[in-house]
Amino acid sequence: MTFKTLDDLESGQRVLVRLDLNSPVEDGEVQDNRRFDRHATTVKELAEDDHKVVLMAHQGRPGDDDFVSLEQHADILAGHIDRDVQFVADTYGDDALDAIRSLEGGDVLLLENTRMVDEELPEADPETKAETEFVQTLKEEFDAYVNDAYSAAHRKHASLVGFPLVLPSYAGRVMESEYEANSSIATREFDGDVTMVVGGTKATDVIGVMNALDEKVDQFLLGGIAGELFLRADGHDVGYDLEGMNLFDEQWEKNEETIRNVLDEKGDQIVLATDLAFEDENNERAEIPVANITEKDTAYLDVGSDTVATYTPYIHDSEAVFVKGALGLFEDERFATGTTGVLEAIADTDCFSVVGGGDTSRAIEMYGMSEDDFSHVSIAGGAYIRALTGESLPAVELLQEN
Ligand code: 3PG
Ligand code: MG
Repeated sequence: MTFKTLDDLESGQRVLVRLDLNSPVEDGEVQDNRRFDRHATTVKELAEDDHKVVLMAHQGRPGDDDFVSLEQHADILAGHIDRDVQFVADTYGDDALDAIRSLEGGDVLLLENTRMVDEELPEADPETKAETEFVQTLKEEFDAYVNDAYSAAHRKHASLVGFPLVLPSYAGRVMESEYEANSSIATREFDGDVTMVVGGTKATDVIGVMNALDEKVDQFLLGGIAGELFLRADGHDVGYDLEGMNLFDEQWEKNEETIRNVLDEKGDQIVLATDLAFEDENNERAEIPVANITEKDTAYLDVGSDTVATYTPYIHDSEAVFVKGALGLFEDERFATGTTGVLEAIADTDCFSVVGGGDTSRAIEMYGMSEDDFSHVSIAGGAYIRALTGESLPAVELLQEN
């Protein structure tokens, strides 16, 4: 399925654009991240094409600490597009409409956090969202709607699913590239092995991906919290909560049966860690073979170097590698080896590769690797998982129907 893109958009129009600038916020300060850099491509292209460019985005959710204004986002984005980004602290009221109507071709304006509009949340079908005052008011000001927010496309919010019903709609450059890469595991045939590296903290995501893709993927290389739960199912004394921890036991109770079944049915395709890393008495990284673990007394924070050595040949012999989730606590340099080791193995080969899922892709910049060594580094979390498991992304489907 395809959608209309910026190539199909005539220049010099009034264009309403949905981005995903949802970012980490530390002590009230919005942190620059690759979402700005990626969306900059779309925004720049639109501005250079003499459109009046009006941007919508969300930040956090009502009640959360990171639910803040988009004022800082405008400044950060401006730095990425080398032109001014105006900001108005309003989304569809008179102040917003005045600001929109004063724009000239090539101007860029960011509206206030869409989630400050009551009608944006909660989820509802597109027809309902299209009828909201928010959508009905803004649609009068524009000739076209561009959705670039692939990473929010699993949400049925007004700014994502309402506008495609009332304005001619187009996919932005990020939407296009994310869609193509992340759907490729479902849509492409590779003539060679397909490997999937699955880690991270959520067992249900990992199980979902394994169940959905067992016919497409030749081997799953496991790590992270999920990997430890699989080792536990395989009879090892790991994957338990120690005092004060809440990472394993609850997930184990909920998923034990499924994990055992997956291991039973797909055992041939599953490769588990052979060693794990922990913090020793000198606060240094130490490693132990899984086979030598006999006590439930240690917290493991990464897969070990033998595991990386075991996983690497699978990667080198693959035609395509997909990564979902980190293999360890890579934010701590001592426990980054598993994640970076696997990423480096991928970077070393010419295979088709996609990296995504939560924060995993952050390891690439944290440890000085180059995004150019991967076919695609996704900025999506939840939407990436859904794409992998073949679940629909409502906002993408609407663009395709448009
Ligand atoms: C994200 O940051 O993952 C997306 O923007 C979706 O945000 P949400 O999970 O708050 O809906
Ligand atoms: Mg999220």
